[in-house]
Amino acid sequence: MMKSILRDITYGMYVVTSKNFGCIINTLTQVSSSALVTISLNKDNYTNKVIKENKKFIVSIISEKTNPNIISTFGFRSSKDIDKFENFDYTIIDDTKVLNENMLGYIECEVIDIIGADTHDIFIAKILNTKKENDYTPMTYKYYHEVIKGTSPIKAPTYIEETDEEIYVCDVCGYVHKGTMSDDFVCPICGVDKSHFKRSING
Ligand SMILES: Cc1cc2nc3c(=O)[nH]c(=O)nc-3n(C[C@H](O)[C@H](O)[C@H](O)COP(=O)(O)O)c2cc1C
Repeated sequence: MMKSILRDITYGMYVVTSKNFGCIINTLTQVSSSALVTISLNKDNYTNKVIKENKKFIVSIISEKTNPNIISTFGFRSSKDIDKFENFDYTIIDDTKVLNENMLGYIECEVIDIIGADTHDIFIAKILNTKKENDYTPMTYKYYHEVIKGTSPIKAPTYIEETDEEIYVCDVCGYVHKGTMSDDFVCPICGVDKSHFKRSING
C-alpha cells in the first residue's frame, strides 16, 4: 500500500499536557460546534495514563516560532524517563503545566468519553476554557515535515514505516534521518553532529 498519500492529510502540531506530564500530538480535531474536541493518544504513552486518571488536559497550539527542542523533548522522549518541563518556561493552570514557548495559546478540556481504537485511545472532551496568547502562524504537520524535516516516532498515528532507505536515529532526541549523511550533517532538531546518529535496524 502507498502510504505517502497519508502525508497529504493536513494536521496541526500541539502539546497536550496534564498535571506535570505531556506529549506532542497532531490529532486534535474539533468535532462539533458545541465545543467538543477529540485527541488520539497511543495506549503506551505516559500522557494517556495521566489523562485517564486526571480526566482533564490542556492543548497548546505550536507556532512556527516554537523552539524545535519542544518537539524533540515532548515528541520523542517519555515522561516515564525524564522531567520534560525541566528546561522550558511554563505556567501552571489548574494543576497542569502549560508551556510558554511561543505558542499561539491553549484550550483547557475535560474528558467525557474514551473510545479504544487499535493502538490508540480517542479521548472525547468538552472545552472548558481557552486563551489566545500570540498571533503567530500555527505550525502544520506539513511544515514540521518539510521545513524542519521532522518525522514521527512509532507511537504517532502519522508514523510511516520506510524500509527501503538508510535510516539513522539521533541518540539525543530521536530524530530520524533518511538517506545517506554528509560529514558535516547536524541534527535539525537538537543540533548534535553525525557521530550521534546510529543506523536503525530498519535501514
Ligand atoms: C509530529 C509528532 C506527532 C505526534 N502525534 C502523536 C499523537 O497524535 N498521538 C500520540 O499518542 N503520540 C503522538 N506522538 C508521539 C508522542 O509525542 C511520543 O510517543 C511521546 O514520547 C510520548 O511521551 P509520553 O510517554 O511522556 O506520553 C507524536 C510525535 C510527533 C513528533
